[in-house]
Parts: sequence; structure tokens; C-alpha cells
Amino acid sequence: MTLPSDAFRHVASRPHEPLRTFHPRRSPLSRDRQDALAQLWPTLGFSVHDEAAPYPSSDGLLDPVALFGRVAPLVVEIGSGMGETTAVMAAADTGRDYLAIEAHLPGIAHLLGLVDTLGLTNVRVAHGDALDLLRRAIAPDSLDAVHVYFPDPWPKARHHKRRIIQPAHVELLRSRLRIGGTLHCATDWLEYAEQMRDVLAADPGLSSSGLVPRPDHRPVTKFEQRGLDLGHPVHDVIARRTR
Ligand SMILES: C[S@@+](CC[C@H](N)C(=O)[O-])C[C@H]1O[C@@H](n2cnc3c(N)ncnc32)[C@H](O)[C@@H]1O
Repeated sequence: MTLPSDAFRHVASRPHEPLRTFHPRRSPLSRDRQDALAQLWPTLGFSVHDEAAPYPSSDGLLDPVALFGRVAPLVVEIGSGMGETTAVMAAADTGRDYLAIEAHLPGIAHLLGLVDTLGLTNVRVAHGDALDLLRRAIAPDSLDAVHVYFPDPWPKARHHKRRIIQPAHVELLRSRLRIGGTLHCATDWLEYAEQMRDVLAADPGLSSSGLVPRPDHRPVTKFEQRGLDLGHPVHDVIARRTR
């Protein structure tokens, strides 16, 4: 089996596309993670960028019924990191399916290990740039929820253009939600929380909560815990698609 490759991370996005929203880091895979990939990737994973091993599709769009083997509301998590939050939420919410999209391969492998340990049947993983997948392959009006938890804050002003929560990206995410579906963001970076609040409030198709505390159904993420240990305040913003 060919393992998914991190090579795409080092290729700049094409000129007409927005900049990548993640850091191009390469990390070796531990033996456990190589084993998890070897065993579980063929049935539970796909590469966003590998045209030789495409996702199950219908008319060029991702076919969630073929991917999960059932009809159920679909949650997409962008930047699932090591996947602990995805696994806990999916285990507590077996009536919905979870597609975790992550650019960092060790995180994908770690989540596959959790899926196996917990015996989850409602999680699939996609390796690559979530924005590329949403643009090209996720049908409009199709998602029950999009989760963006602790996205890279890109703190320097000259890097703000790389932030995932900005008007053009939010318009894309909103267009993929069904009417009534939710976009749930969280960050421990106050100035980014304010940007999330303002961008979601300004989108004409969303009704937003403003800054709210973490709801009980969202477990503390790995990255969030690091922020909490440093004394960072955490804010969530939850918006519902209205039209
Ligand atoms: C700061 S980490 C947070 C991870 C996790 N959500 C948590 O809270 O522990 C942000 C993650 O988002 C991923 N990421 C950022 N932009 C992405 C994109 N466009 N597509 C897929 N993954 C992305 C990064 O690779 C990184 O692992």
C-alpha cells in the first residue's frame, strides 16, 4: 500500500488560490502510527490531493453515503490535529458522521488509532488541505456542521491573510452547510476570537452567537489545554446558516 504523502504541504498553493492556512512542517511517523495507517487508511482514509486514489464520488463530488455506508448528517472538522476531540465527539454522537480533515499526517494516523481503540464506525479521515476539498468536492448545502477548533492563529500581522477564519473562507464554509447547519469555531487567541466574532457576524447568511464559553458538547482540545496552561482565555463562536 502507498501511504499518503506529506509532500503537498511544501508545494505553494496555485496562484489563483488563497494561501495555505497551515504551517509546512514535516514530522516522522512513529512505528505505531505507521501501523495504524497501514491497517486503517485503506478503509477509513483518503488523500485530498492524490488523484490516483480518489475519494468515493458521484458527479465529481464526495459521496458521503458511499464513504460511511449509511445516510446520516455529516460533520466536517477542519484541522483535527491529533484527533482526540474528534474521537470523543464522534463517540458521544453516533447518529452523525464525522469527516476529520487534517494536513498533518501524524495527526491523521493518531486519530485512526483512536478510532480503532474506541471501535468508532462514524469517523473517516481526509489528509490534505480542507479548503481545497470543500471547494472542489463537498456539495453545497450538504453539511450539518463545520468545526474549526483552535486553528493556527498566525499572530503576526503580515500573516493574518493565512487565517482560516476570514470572510472568503467563511463564505465557502457557509455555502457547504445546509440551512440551519452550524459553524462552530474556538480559539485561545483573543484578537483572533474578536476577528472570528466580527467575520461571522458580518456574513449575511449566518446568525452568530458572538463570543461564548465552551459548550459542554465540545471537549477541551489538546491545543486548547496548552493555551489554558499558559493562562489564555478561550472563546467559542457558534453561527447558524440562515439562508
Ligand atoms: C493549532 S492546531 C489545532 C489542532 C486541534 N484542533 C486542537 O485543537 O488540538 C491547527 C491544525 O489545523 C491544521 N490545519 C490548518 N489549516 C488546515 C487546512 N486548510 N486543512 C487541513 N488542516 C489544516 C494544522 O495542520 C494543525 O494541525
